[in-house]
Amino acid sequence: MILQWDLHTTTDDRYLSLMQQAADAAVQEEGIRKKTAVHIILTDDDEIHEINRTYRGVDRATDVLSFPLVSYPEGKTAGQAQSCLSEAYDDEVDAVMLGDLVISMPHVLSQAQEYGHSPEREAAYLLVHGICHLMGYDHIEDDDRRRMRAMEEKILESIGVTRDGVTDSMLLEKAREAMGYSYSPYSGFPVGAALLSQDGKIFTGCNIENASLGLTNCAERTAVFKAVSEGVKEFSTIAIASRGTAPWPCGACRQVLNEFAPDLRVLVTWDGNVDEATLPQLLPHSFGPKQLVDEAGAGRPGKPEESEK
Ligand code: THU
Repeated sequence: MILQWDLHTTTDDRYLSLMQQAADAAVQEEGIRKKTAVHIILTDDDEIHEINRTYRGVDRATDVLSFPLVSYPEGKTAGQAQSCLSEAYDDEVDAVMLGDLVISMPHVLSQAQEYGHSPEREAAYLLVHGICHLMGYDHIEDDDRRRMRAMEEKILESIGVTRDGVTDSMLLEKAREAMGYSYSPYSGFPVGAALLSQDGKIFTGCNIENASLGLTNCAERTAVFKAVSEGVKEFSTIAIASRGTAPWPCGACRQVLNEFAPDLRVLVTWDGNVDEATLPQLLPHSFGPKQLVDEAGAGRPGKPEESEK
């Protein structure tokens, strides 16, 4: 992908080369066959604030803004709508102009610090987020957000970068290692799990059986209970490993995972195979904390304690 840089603030070359790699990976993962280009302004908070106010009517600075030039059919992204790309062909650049991106470098630095990773990683993440918008992804509806998030991960992982520094392959390997600690003399079915928290920590677990059989604890719940008992309650991904068959979590584990991470990504691995799903796919029409709060009427007029006043 051709990146047309507009550097309105001093920027180190190392950002630019990682961002170029990320942009090339985006085109590759999306399966775009045409030559593409994006115009990028790297700037400060004052300028991004001004652009946000002028073009979007939002009176504040932000981390990244995207202005797509291609309009895609409803529900489709660039890879599935290659013919739409021709409309944005630019003679001068001899490529399809996907649009413009504006990235705030002060936000890159502060967010990198907040997430505890390098500024280069954050810059690559924001660029990929912006390019995904230019390729037709959005995050308004839950399903779209998941699709966009999965694509961002796929692109970043292909260049060895993730927001928290943990790749799917690393997490799968941790789950395989944890399987080695399985105590499963009764079933002979070892399971290992590796649960990744939103702040980048990994909690592993294995299945622990018992002569009473009924007291068996699954690998996934071992990992969740370890994390929660150490004060960590927000998770992005779980990897589960076993042998002989895909170790999709049992119903009880799905319910326990749903308590803390309704949008969790679930990766499974067995005998060299890998598969992936989301918790909403594995536990549709789920019942969780959200339902209980809504049923109790919290935050809505007429909830019991208010009507008694
Ligand atoms: N098992 C898990 O660890 N996770 C699951 O989600 C399904 C089942 C374990 C429990 C038991 O030790 C063995 O697999 C056979 O049921």
